[in-house]
Amino acid sequence: LPHTVVGVDQDGNIDFMVSGVKDASPEALVELTQQHALSALASKDIVLVDASKDNNQFFFPGFIDTHIHAPQFPNNGIFGNTTLLEWLEIYTFPLESSFTDLELATEIYTKVISRTLGYGTTTASYYATIHTDATNLLADLALKLGQRSFVGKVCMDQNSPAHYIETEEESKASTLEVIDHIRSRNPSGDLINAVLTPRFAGSCTDSLLSWLGNLRKKGNYHCQTHLSENHKEIEWITNMFPQYDHYTDIYYQNNLLSSKTVLAHCIHLSDEEMHILRNTGSGISHCPTSNSSITSGEARIRWLLNNHINVSLGTDCSGGFTPSILEVARHALLVSRHLVMKSKEDAEKLSSSDVLYLATVGGAKVLDIDDKVGCFRKGLKFDAQLISLDCKDSNVDTFAFQNPQWGVLPAEASHKRFADLIDKWLFTGDNRNIQKVFVNGRTVVDRTA
Ligand code: GUN
Ligand code: FE
Repeated sequence: LPHTVVGVDQDGNIDFMVSGVKDASPEALVELTQQHALSALASKDIVLVDASKDNNQFFFPGFIDTHIHAPQFPNNGIFGNTTLLEWLEIYTFPLESSFTDLELATEIYTKVISRTLGYGTTTASYYATIHTDATNLLADLALKLGQRSFVGKVCMDQNSPAHYIETEEESKASTLEVIDHIRSRNPSGDLINAVLTPRFAGSCTDSLLSWLGNLRKKGNYHCQTHLSENHKEIEWITNMFPQYDHYTDIYYQNNLLSSKTVLAHCIHLSDEEMHILRNTGSGISHCPTSNSSITSGEARIRWLLNNHINVSLGTDCSGGFTPSILEVARHALLVSRHLVMKSKEDAEKLSSSDVLYLATVGGAKVLDIDDKVGCFRKGLKFDAQLISLDCKDSNVDTFAFQNPQWGVLPAEASHKRFADLIDKWLFTGDNRNIQKVFVNGRTVVDRTA
């Protein structure tokens, strides 16, 4: 079977990628390297994998989850019939407040990182809790387990329960401490980064938002928050901040919007709010599993994309129930079809390639790291998953590919066949199909061993 050979340099950059390689003997590889590599690679720098389309195996860029709450992981699937504001009070704040316990934090954060890596998430943008030590721990564990990540200490100095709130001064001090900690652990920022994280306008005073905005501008930091998720939330927040034109204006006036800002949800935006997001280059994290579960609404992704706004996908665990971006991509496609069923505007439909784009390149653009990851190109980091649809515990049936008379084109029509293969994976695949995961060219998951 032909192989796909990837040459990765010492820094984890893709040097070359060749498919259809028939002879993968050590001698042939040395020759191949000499032919293709610009730098003189030693053979140990070559990642060789048997990724043959004929074998229903392929490399895919690692997934990018631009919105996930690490401490909420134990609550995945548990939300009952609540909507956002009740859900926060009943399920979320009590759980997050227990992250003063570092033993608990170690156990849960280790699980979150290894589980998401096992689902092919090579980059994640995490919300932690208000606690400095547990947030630092999350960053340390991501570094140790090898996941590219953005780690945010959550800021919340108002409208929060007595057991889970901080003062403005505490919020500022711990934000700075976490930034320092992360910088000291990974000065180059090639794996872990700090992200300013006002939970949402509802839980931050104007004064704290303004301080965070100034810090963001001064340090050119990443920033993440929630925006326009739920009708009651919007009404509550706009009444709380009457001096602003709308929800988006609160973040805009406080200097929190930039091309390194990730806004989760953005379901009920006005045209004016959308224009502000476009003009500031802010990115959106679309969280369809969460939006369906806690009944927040259906984000108009085609409308946002048509208006040149960067959109990505977020699991939003545990508003969303799954740590799998593949599953979130599937829901993004289905939610777009629910919009079409109501609007009759067929153009709103998202295709398989649309949602897989959001899961990879879209995420890289939203996090402003598309010069590093998101797809396979010379000079980008090798952040990848090796997928096999026929692995031993696969839940995917590939009969159709052996039976072209059923309507799937034969192997010669390789373009169409590959699209069908990807659709099979998107709709019926899961983490069992992930053979290996690579971050910065380093193997971080290996299920073939
Ligand atoms: N708004 C404020 N906090 C949260 C949260 O933890 N999850 C979601 N989905 N929305 C929020
Ligand atoms: Fe969220």
